[in-house]
Amino acid sequence: MMLSKISVILLWEFCVASHDSISQYDYVIAGAGTAGLLLASILSEDPNVNVLVLEAGFDSRKEANVTDPERRGLYDNGTGGSQYVPRGKTIGGTSAMNWMIHNEDSRVQLDIWESVLNLTGWNWESISTAFRESETMYAPPTDLADDLPYDASLHGGTGPIASTFQRSVYTLYSQYVSPTLESRGFTPTHDGNDGNANGPNFLPFAIYPFNYTRSYAGSVYTTVEYRPNLEVRTNCQVTGISWASTGANATASGLRYVPADGSTNQTTQVASREVVISAGAIQSPQILELSGIGDPNILQAVGITPVVNLSNVGTSLRDPPMTNYWPIQFKINGSMKLTGNESIQNFIDLEPASKILSPADYNAASSWLNSTSAIPGLADAQLAVFKELWYTDQPLIEFAWQYQTANVTPYCLVPLSQGTVHINSSDPMHPPAINPNYNVVNATINGTVVQWDMWFLAKAAQYYTKLLATTAPMSSIVISTVPDYKLPFEEWYEDIFQQTGSSQHLTGGNPMLEREAGGVVDTELKVYGTNNVRVVDGSVFPYQPSAHPMGVTYALAVRAARIFQAGKSTKTTSLPSSNASANATATFPVGGSESGNGSSITTGVPASYTGGANLVGFEKLGWAMFGGFVFAISQFV
Ligand SMILES: Cc1cc2nc3c(=O)[nH]c(=O)nc-3n(C[C@H](O)[C@H](O)[C@H](O)COP(=O)(O)OP(=O)(O)OC[C@H]3O[C@@H](n4cnc5c(N)ncnc54)[C@H](O)[C@@H]3O)c2cc1C
Ligand SMILES: *[C@@H]1O[C@H](CO)[C@@H](O)[C@H](O)[C@H]1NC(C)=O
Ligand SMILES: *[C@@H]1O[C@H](CO)[C@@H](O)[C@H](O)[C@H]1NC(C)=O
Ligand SMILES: *[C@@H]1O[C@H](CO)[C@@H](O)[C@H](O)[C@H]1NC(C)=O
Ligand SMILES: *[C@@H]1O[C@H](CO)[C@@H](O)[C@H](O)[C@H]1NC(C)=O
Ligand SMILES: *[C@@H]1O[C@H](CO)[C@@H](O)[C@H](O)[C@H]1NC(C)=O
Ligand SMILES: *[C@@H]1O[C@H](CO)[C@@H](O)[C@H](O)[C@H]1NC(C)=O
Ligand SMILES: *[C@@H]1O[C@H](CO)[C@@H](O)[C@H](O)[C@H]1NC(C)=O
Ligand SMILES: *[C@@H]1O[C@H](CO)[C@@H](O)[C@H](O)[C@H]1NC(C)=O
Ligand SMILES: *[C@@H]1O[C@H](CO)[C@@H](O)[C@H](O)[C@H]1NC(C)=O
Ligand SMILES: *[C@@H]1O[C@H](CO)[C@@H](O)[C@H](O)[C@H]1NC(C)=O
Ligand SMILES: *[C@@H]1O[C@H](CO)[C@@H](O)[C@H](O)[C@H]1NC(C)=O
Ligand SMILES: *[C@@H]1O[C@H](CO)[C@@H](O)[C@H](O)[C@H]1NC(C)=O
Repeated sequence: MMLSKISVILLWEFCVASHDSISQYDYVIAGAGTAGLLLASILSEDPNVNVLVLEAGFDSRKEANVTDPERRGLYDNGTGGSQYVPRGKTIGGTSAMNWMIHNEDSRVQLDIWESVLNLTGWNWESISTAFRESETMYAPPTDLADDLPYDASLHGGTGPIASTFQRSVYTLYSQYVSPTLESRGFTPTHDGNDGNANGPNFLPFAIYPFNYTRSYAGSVYTTVEYRPNLEVRTNCQVTGISWASTGANATASGLRYVPADGSTNQTTQVASREVVISAGAIQSPQILELSGIGDPNILQAVGITPVVNLSNVGTSLRDPPMTNYWPIQFKINGSMKLTGNESIQNFIDLEPASKILSPADYNAASSWLNSTSAIPGLADAQLAVFKELWYTDQPLIEFAWQYQTANVTPYCLVPLSQGTVHINSSDPMHPPAINPNYNVVNATINGTVVQWDMWFLAKAAQYYTKLLATTAPMSSIVISTVPDYKLPFEEWYEDIFQQTGSSQHLTGGNPMLEREAGGVVDTELKVYGTNNVRVVDGSVFPYQPSAHPMGVTYALAVRAARIFQAGKSTKTTSLPSSNASANATATFPVGGSESGNGSSITTGVPASYTGGANLVGFEKLGWAMFGGFVFAISQFV
C-alpha cells in the first residue's frame, strides 16, 4: 500500500504535466525535439486541436549552455577509435545543443525526392516553402553586407525560427580564403538558399539577433506554452504504441510511457486519435520495433509479437564521415594578426565532385560510377540518387571553416555506406544497437579497390588543401599544413583516416519511400500497415541532405503539420500550393540594436576563450552514443 502511494507521488512529481490531462488527445507526440516540438506548436495553433508531447529529457530552456551561442561545443577528438555522438535529451532535443548552422539544400537535390524517389508532393518548391515558413531571416549589419550574402526574397519573414548571420568576420576569410578560392574559379559568394547551394558562403545561424541567444524548438515552445490545448510532459520516456486493433490496418489507441529517470516502473497510458513518433534517428526506429513494427525475425528474437511486417524499419541509417578529429590545420606566418572578435564563424564551402577532385581523379571515379549498376547492401534508389547528384554537380563535399585558427573540416556529405539501428532487447530502457557500417562500399578506381567514402573525402581534402596553400593570397601566409599536403596520397590518406569520425548528422532509419523501395513511411508520413501512426523527424529523410539537417528538419515539421491539417475542418492554414512565402521580406532592426554593430561587437567573448569545449558538460543532458569510426558496432552509454 505504502509503496504504491509513493510511486504515484513520485510519478506526479517527476513526470511534470503542464496542464490538466484530458481523456483523449487529437495528437500525442513522442519526443519534444527539433521536429516534434515545432510540429506541436503549429498543430496547436488551432484551439480545437489538443496536443500532448512526451519528452524523455528535462526542461533546460534556462541553461546558459543551451541559450548562449558562444557555448556551442567543439567535438571530441576521437582518441581511441570511438567518440560520443550526443543528441539532445531535453526540451528542443538536438536543436538545444547543436551548432545552429541553418542552411538548405539545392533545388535539384530536393526535386530528386519527387523525380527519382517518387515522393509525390515533396520537391524544392514544397520543401523550401516549408523551410521559409519556419524562418524569420534577419539581414546582416550594413558594414558586413559585402561579406555576408543575403537576399531577402529567398527567406522567410514571419516564421518561428530566427535566422541571422555571425556578428563579425574573421579577416582570414575576407582577406585570404575567400579571394583565393575566387581566383581559382570557386563560385563567388551568393545567398545559398537560392536553389544552388554550391560555393564558399557564410551561412546563417538559428540565433535571435536582439539578445543573441539560440533560436530553437525550445524557444518556439516558450512563445506558445500558454496555450491550454498544448501540453508537454518531461521525464516521460515513451516505451511503445498501444494498439486498439491489429491486423492489416493496425490502429493505435495512444502511447505508453514510464519516468525516464527510473524513479518508478509505473507505466502510464495516454489515448490519442493520432500518434506521432518524433524521437530522432535512433529512438524512432526503436519505438516502432518495441511496438511490433519491424522485421519479424528481429522482433521475435527478443520476444515481441509482430504487428506490422516491415523489415525496412531501422535501415538506411547514415552518419556521414567528417575530418574533425582534428581538422586540417594551416600554419600561418606568426607575425600575421588575423582579427574578427568572435569565435562564432561560419564560412562553409560546399562543392561538387567535378570541382573538388583533380580532373584525372574525377574521370577515374566517374568511370567507376558509370560502370556500376548495383552495390551490394545499398538500395538501388540510393545509387541512382548518388549518380544524379554526381552528374548534376550537386554539393558532395563540404569544407567548414569555423575556428579562431586557420583550421578547416572536410566532410563527405552523402556517404554511400549506410547502417542500421535495431533493438536487441524487449526492455524499452535498453539502448538499441547501432551499426553505422562506416566505409563498407568499395570502388575500383583506376584498377585499385578503395573504400569509397574515405577515398573521396581524402582525395578532395588533399586537392583543396594544396590549392589553398599554393594559391595567392593564401600562399603568402601559409607556412605548412598538417597533415602536409605534399605527402604521397597513401600517407595523406592514413593521416586523414585517423582524423575522421562522425559528422553528428545522423539521419534515416525510417525512410520515406515506397514500401517496395525500402520505405517505412509514405508521403503523408504514415507508417505502412498502420492507420494512424506517423513519424516526423530526421529518421524519414529518404537520402542524406547536403545541408546540415536542422533546417530541413524544421521544414519537414512544417510540411507535416500542413499535411495533417489538410482536408480537416479544423485546419488553420491551407497547404501552400506554390512557394507563397518566397518573397517575404525579412524584418531587421535598424540602428542601435545589438545585432547592428557588426564587427565592433566584443561582448560575449571572454579573453581566455579557447572554443566551446564547455559543451562537454552538457552531454549529461544528452543521449550519448559511442559511434566508433573504426569499430563498426556502437552502443549507448
Ligand atoms: C553536436 C551536434 C551539432 C550539430 N550541429 C548542427 C548544425 O549546426 N546545423 C544543423 O543543421 N544540424 C546540426 N546537427 C544535427 C541536427 O541538430 C539534428 O539532425 C536534428 O536536430 C535532429 O532532429 P530530430 O527532430 O530528428 O531529433 P531530436 O531533435 O534529437 O529530437 C528527438 C527528441 O526525442 C526525445 N526522445 C527520444 N526518445 C524518446 C522516448 N523514448 N520517449 C520520449 N522522448 C524521447 C529526445 O530526448 C529528443 O528531445 C548537429 C547535431 C549534433 C549532435
Ligand atoms: C585528443 O585528446 C586527448 C585528450 O583529450 C589528447 O591527449 C590527444 O593529444 C588529442 N589528440 C590529438 C590528435 O590532438
Ligand atoms: C519509382 O517509380 C518507378 C516507376 O513505377 C519505379 O520503376 C521505381 O522503382 C520507383 N522508385 C522508387 C525509389 O520508388
Ligand atoms: C531572446 O529574444 C527572443 C525573441 O524576443 C525571446 O523569445 C527569447 O526568449 C529571448 N531569449 C532569452 C534567453 O532571453
Ligand atoms: C524497475 O524494474 C527493474 C527491473 O525489474 C528493477 O531492477 C528496478 O529496481 C525497478 N525500479 C523501481 C524504482 O522499482
Ligand atoms: C514478412 O514479409 C516478407 C516479405 O516482405 C515475407 O517474406 C515474410 O514471410 C513475412 N513474414 C511473416 C512472419 O509474415
Ligand atoms: C612573415 O611575414 C613577415 C611580414 O610580412 C615577413 O617579413 C616574413 O618573412 C614572413 N615569414 C615567413 C616565414 O614567411
Ligand atoms: C592510374 O594508374 C596509373 C598506373 O598506375 C597511374 O600512372 C595514374 O596516375 C593513375 N591515375 C589516377 C587518376 O590515379
Ligand atoms: C559517365 O557518364 C556520364 C553521363 O552518362 C558521361 O557524361 C561521362 O562522360 C561518363 N564519364 C566517363 C569517365 O565515362
Ligand atoms: C572491400 O575491400 C576490403 C579491403 O580493402 C575488403 O576487406 C572487403 O571485404 C571488401 N568488401 C566487399 C564488400 O567487397
Ligand atoms: C483503416 O481503418 C480506418 C479506421 O477504421 C479506416 O478509416 C481506413 O479507411 C482504413 N484504411 C485502410 C487502408 O483500410
Ligand atoms: C515573387 O516575386 C517575383 C518577382 O517579383 C514574382 O514574379 C512572383 O510572382 C512572386 N511570387 C509570389 C509567390 O508572390
Ligand atoms: C554547462 O557548462 C559548464 C561548463 O562546462 C559545466 O560545468 C556545466 O555542468 C554545464 N551545465 C550543464 C547543465 O550541463
